Amino acid sequence: MMNKDERFEAHWRSPSNIALIKYWGKKKNQIPQNPSISFTLQDAYTQTRVVCERSGSSNNAVSLYLDNELNEDFGVRIAKLLFSWKKTFKHVYNAGIEIHTHNSFPHSTGIASSASGMSALVKCIISLEIAMGGDKELGAVESVSSFARLASGSACRSVIPYWGLWGNTEGIEGSNDFYAVGVEGLDDRFKAYHDDVIIISSEKKSVSSSAGHRLMVGNRYAASRYKQARHHMSELLLAMKLYDLDRFCEIVEQEAMELHALMMCSSPSYILLKPKTLEAIDRIREMRRESGIPVCFTLDAGPNIHLLYPDEYKEKLSLFIEEQLRPLAVDGRIINDHVGAGPMAIRGSFETKD
Ligand code: PMV
Repeated sequence: MMNKDERFEAHWRSPSNIALIKYWGKKKNQIPQNPSISFTLQDAYTQTRVVCERSGSSNNAVSLYLDNELNEDFGVRIAKLLFSWKKTFKHVYNAGIEIHTHNSFPHSTGIASSASGMSALVKCIISLEIAMGGDKELGAVESVSSFARLASGSACRSVIPYWGLWGNTEGIEGSNDFYAVGVEGLDDRFKAYHDDVIIISSEKKSVSSSAGHRLMVGNRYAASRYKQARHHMSELLLAMKLYDLDRFCEIVEQEAMELHALMMCSSPSYILLKPKTLEAIDRIREMRRESGIPVCFTLDAGPNIHLLYPDEYKEKLSLFIEEQLRPLAVDGRIINDHVGAGPMAIRGSFETKD
């Protein structure tokens, strides 16, 4: 944090995440209809720098530069968010902010830039508010995760290393609908899990995630989905404790398929999967059946495949990935990532409350 002539600057990196149990459907104030858990990614992150100049008069302006280019739409979205938080972040709100942001991964690749982007931005705003005289309690991890949730639901899980659980979950002490928490007792081998993102398409999605969440309101399967997600959560946590990879693969794939099934039976119905997504799914399942290697896939709200597998199978899977999956990827693009604690913070870190 720098404080020179009433100029304040905060600089943070924050990782993206990929959900294993999906958050799909919400109540008011970004309260999830069911709990979710995700792997935190190591190399896919957003790096954000926010500058604030305190002067005599209030400014309230927000300008946002993505890769050095002014992005007005995104700027307007952040201005609205900051306006809704103007009481809590009064110093920052009154000063106005200039945001410079960059993603470590390419655009529209099935890696959630809203999770990394919003969590990085929230970390900057909180750091600035504290530096300008605001409440230090805002810097507790729980508070950072809560504000990230308000900015973009799944972003709240990005502040937790390795895996973040968000939503009230039976048997997980401290779990709640407002911020994400870590989960103790899961097998450490998941900390080295791979996530290779097979880019099946990099076109803009036809239906945004916000619209998708809204369509859950009238979805006739909504109630049974929320029940099923809770059941999957307890089964997945057990499989992750026991390192039961067959069960892990089964649940993770069911979750991905349910997410897309919900889109297909929404009204209006829509499909984000592409023929090559289905071809990749077939090939992955066949590979698993034939080789016995516990490799599986998950999907975000898009057509791209996240290939999940333990580190020990990296060599054995490389030929399969090259020969069977890379040809399905647009321009042969695959992004290799893995589970991690997230990138090193550029400045400081937030404390967990006792
Ligand atoms: O956080 P949102 O509103 O972009 O919704 C994310 C929804 C999924 O990515 C599909 C699932 C999840 O839990 O991350």
